[in-house]
Amino acid sequence: MSSEFSVAVVGATGAVGQQIIKQLEERNFPVGNLHLLASSRSRGKKIEFKGKRLVVEELDENSFQGVQIAFFCAGGKFSEKYAPIAVEAGAVCVDKSSAFRMDPDVPLVIPEVNPDALCDYKKTGIIASPNCSTIQMVLVLAPLHALVPIRRVVVSTYQSVSGAGAPAMEELARQTIAIFNAAEHKPEVFDHQIAFNCIPHIDAFMANAYTREEMKMVHETRKVMGEPSLRITATAVRVPVFSCHSESINIEFEGAMSADQARRILSDAPGVAVCDDPINSEYPMNVMATEKDDTFVGRIRADETVENGLNLWCVSDNLRKGAATNAVQIAELLAQEYL
Ligand code: A2P
Repeated sequence: MSSEFSVAVVGATGAVGQQIIKQLEERNFPVGNLHLLASSRSRGKKIEFKGKRLVVEELDENSFQGVQIAFFCAGGKFSEKYAPIAVEAGAVCVDKSSAFRMDPDVPLVIPEVNPDALCDYKKTGIIASPNCSTIQMVLVLAPLHALVPIRRVVVSTYQSVSGAGAPAMEELARQTIAIFNAAEHKPEVFDHQIAFNCIPHIDAFMANAYTREEMKMVHETRKVMGEPSLRITATAVRVPVFSCHSESINIEFEGAMSADQARRILSDAPGVAVCDDPINSEYPMNVMATEKDDTFVGRIRADETVENGLNLWCVSDNLRKGAATNAVQIAELLAQEYL
């Protein structure tokens, strides 16, 4: 492994970008130079990294000269345009957007689940990180599936506003204050009021009446788990919390899987923390998972309406494991095994 890498973060001022910078520092990733890239609005802004105040530069075609690893977290259209430019300049791209996830030549990686998929990264020079809701669900499904194959999954999500970026967090805060003060408020980021409201609509609706977010969970789960026909159906809901996504997951297995067995398997699963003592009011919640890298799972219980079914509840910080941590872990694996 080269001792230090020249790294770029595209979308450095955004909700995920700021977490990536934090994770690079906290996890002591061997960064030589760090290039912070954003829009012209942020040019000259300073962001602290390892005690130094680094200046944000405006993203353009020349931003990637000498860059070895580029994180993309500015949104799909910027990934589509600039990731190929970065690859051409010699960088390997770790992309947080959905732009390349379903490209058969692009590895879609959760390091705890399918690290070997990374070996194909040279085909395009791009590695995709899955959708935040997919990552936390697959961390729980994969170790169970390894023991007893899964027949069908029904998942409902309760997703925080941070998944929609920094402006969405500001909107929830602003609206909450406005409502408390009986002041006027108008939704801008979301189609509807988000304060004190749940919106069953994340990303665009598709021809099949599901949202793109819901179908991402279906297709990405199949790709990461290497199970192209896994039966999975999702409902994705935006809820008025700032951090962490929660998921209610119903799993039907091909054979017997007791709640105790699932608890034991998940206790040993990397990246998963079991928190399941409901009698003592212990179960995963947003406030415990915030700023943590583990995906917390609890409320594990038999689904009494089918022969081999379980229900469970899982919560994960969507900006950490759902985005920045997974991306930095991909870069760590890349640096250790391939560069
Ligand atoms: P900026 O802060 O300059 O607008 P979030 O998902 O939290 O909304 O963050 C989106 C990120 O994408 C921000 O860092 C934002 O930078 C960046 N971004 C938005 N538009 C552009 C652009 N035209 N060029 C480069 N980066 C952009």
